Amino acid sequence: MPKITFPENFLWGTATSAYQVEGKNINDWSQWEKAGARMLKIAKAHRNPMDFICGQACDSYHRYTEDFDLAKSLNTNAIRFGIEWSRLQNEKNEWNVEEILHYKTVLKEAQDRGFSVMLCLWHWTIPTWLEREGGWTSREAVAQFEAYVRLIVAEFGGMVDFWLTLNEPLVPAAYGYLAGTFPPGKKLSLRKFWKMKKNLAKAHNAAYDIIHERFPQAMVGHSMLSNAITAEPTNLPARGAAFLARYFANDWFINETKKKCDFLGLQYYKRSRLGGIFPWPQKGNLPRNDMGWELFPEGIYQMIKYWQKFGKPIIVTENGTADAKDSHRAEFIKNHLVQIHRAIKEGAAVLGYFHWSLLDNFEWAYGWGKNFGLFEVDRITFNRKMRESAKVYAEFCRNNGFDHQS
Ligand code: GCO
Repeated sequence: MPKITFPENFLWGTATSAYQVEGKNINDWSQWEKAGARMLKIAKAHRNPMDFICGQACDSYHRYTEDFDLAKSLNTNAIRFGIEWSRLQNEKNEWNVEEILHYKTVLKEAQDRGFSVMLCLWHWTIPTWLEREGGWTSREAVAQFEAYVRLIVAEFGGMVDFWLTLNEPLVPAAYGYLAGTFPPGKKLSLRKFWKMKKNLAKAHNAAYDIIHERFPQAMVGHSMLSNAITAEPTNLPARGAAFLARYFANDWFINETKKKCDFLGLQYYKRSRLGGIFPWPQKGNLPRNDMGWELFPEGIYQMIKYWQKFGKPIIVTENGTADAKDSHRAEFIKNHLVQIHRAIKEGAAVLGYFHWSLLDNFEWAYGWGKNFGLFEVDRITFNRKMRESAKVYAEFCRNNGFDHQS
């Protein structure tokens, strides 16, 4: 059978975020989860409010060496994880020395295992003092983020290979200020949404300079959620809407930051299909995962092609599926890699693939029970168990590709 081989030095990795796996973080999210009104709403919907509390998460704050060993057992050569701002600065203008030392040890352990380390500086959560000041809409937010980045650069900078300043900036802005499903839970607050987006772009650009000042060769980027948005070729309104949706989900932010990106992190999960006269997402006919998301591997190829115009190397910083039964994850990974390889063959500079996620973890507003992990995590004992699909991924990583009949 013909073999698909990825470029030499291709990054094979897994991804997690600090809040979703560490446990016992105190930040805007943990406060939001516990708000009485929210818990009541969940209880009224006959759901258990505790299923929507991150709590101890996967206890990775204590189990990070085990997690790194698990990632290593997959033959990955790279790892993405995050750092939690609220731990380093739980009070304004005050740095927590113990936590600085903690993260130093974490990075050292990753490095000792030979991983290329991708460190994410901001994955949606902020310290509560900043939340009180208006979060990312506050006048001081960018300067505060800069101070945080300066600290990280000074303390751990030398141990980082790839920097992700921000994870999917538009998602928490839209859910926090338009849909109201993320903290601070504001609905249709367009002005604040706009402000948050502006500040995040500024924060990224400033962080880029801070990192490069100290490490001129650093690889710095941010990620974007870049799902496929399709429309029937004959439906003109839907095609127009898809064009605009694609623009706002991708170009709108990237155009403000691309001068200060050494790479762009593409995060791909699913497709949305627009249809009707007033184009709206339609129910498609593709297989779905536990999130109800339509699985559409070709979409990752489409989005890599779409991103070519930004003229930057691309790293797939997240791609994965909620599949508690592990019934389709192995195929999912393979099919998406086939499409990534197709784009590379046609000239796209894709430097690596980070699977979301190493572990089952806390899925934000969906809480517990959406299992994206290559490893299952027991909610009581925190024991990790390898899923069958992880073994398949481990073989892909080991062989830098796989046999494939197209
Ligand atoms: C994202 C989110 C992750 C989610 C994952 C699955 O960056 O989209 O960072 O935290 O868990 O996307 O929905």
